[in-house]
Amino acid sequence: MQKIKNRAKKKIKLKKLKVSDFSNEYIMWLNNPETVKYTEQRYKKNSRKDIEKFVNNINKSKDSFLYGIYIEKNNKEEHVGNIKIGPINFNHKSSYISYLIGSKQFTNQGIATQAIYLIIDIAKKKFKLKKLFAGVYSMNKASRRVLIKNKFKCEGILKSSILFKNRRYDSMIYGKIL
Ligand SMILES: CC(C)(COP(=O)(O)OP(=O)(O)OC[C@H]1O[C@@H](n2cnc3c(N)ncnc32)[C@H](O)[C@@H]1OP(=O)(O)O)[C@@H](O)C(=O)NCCC(=O)NCCS
Repeated sequence: MQKIKNRAKKKIKLKKLKVSDFSNEYIMWLNNPETVKYTEQRYKKNSRKDIEKFVNNINKSKDSFLYGIYIEKNNKEEHVGNIKIGPINFNHKSSYISYLIGSKQFTNQGIATQAIYLIIDIAKKKFKLKKLFAGVYSMNKASRRVLIKNKFKCEGILKSSILFKNRRYDSMIYGKIL
């Protein structure tokens, strides 16, 4: 029998992430090799102190903005991931985005797709941007899918640029004109 996926849409919210409101789980996500296997984060070991420094530095920067992704659960907001816009190139009105859903428990429920949809709106309305990019390892099919669902297009392939488990893979640049 075909397995039916739970597509019940969770309502999500993006809020600028402050050190004072990030969850303990956040530290675990970034240190979980399975979660970060297709990201550059896999090379880092992150203590709470390192992550606090990272969040504080972003919050001081003028061109990068980090948002927590929150869902409503039992009348409370639960932090389930992050999405970043930056560094923004204000001359060209363009920026990279990057994103992470922390726990497997929350993947494949449309959360990253919605978070990207919301960050596109922020990019347009708050930062007046005209172009977004995202870089993805070619084997990260879920990440490519969330971009495609938000009408990003593959604009470039960097052949054999990623070393993963002793094999070389392409990385891909997806772009969207806003
Ligand atoms: C990639 C990631 C952001 C996806 O988040 P998510 O909330 O699960 O994404 P969504 O539920 O919105 O959509 C996932 C889509 O990918 C599809 N998908 C999931 N795993 C897949 C796989 N192995 N192969 C092909 N498609 C896959 C899902 O079916 C879904 O598409 P559909 O709605 O058409 O069925 C999340 O898994 C994550 O944070 N991973 C770790 C960090 C990371 O890789 N970040 C991106 C770095 S570029």
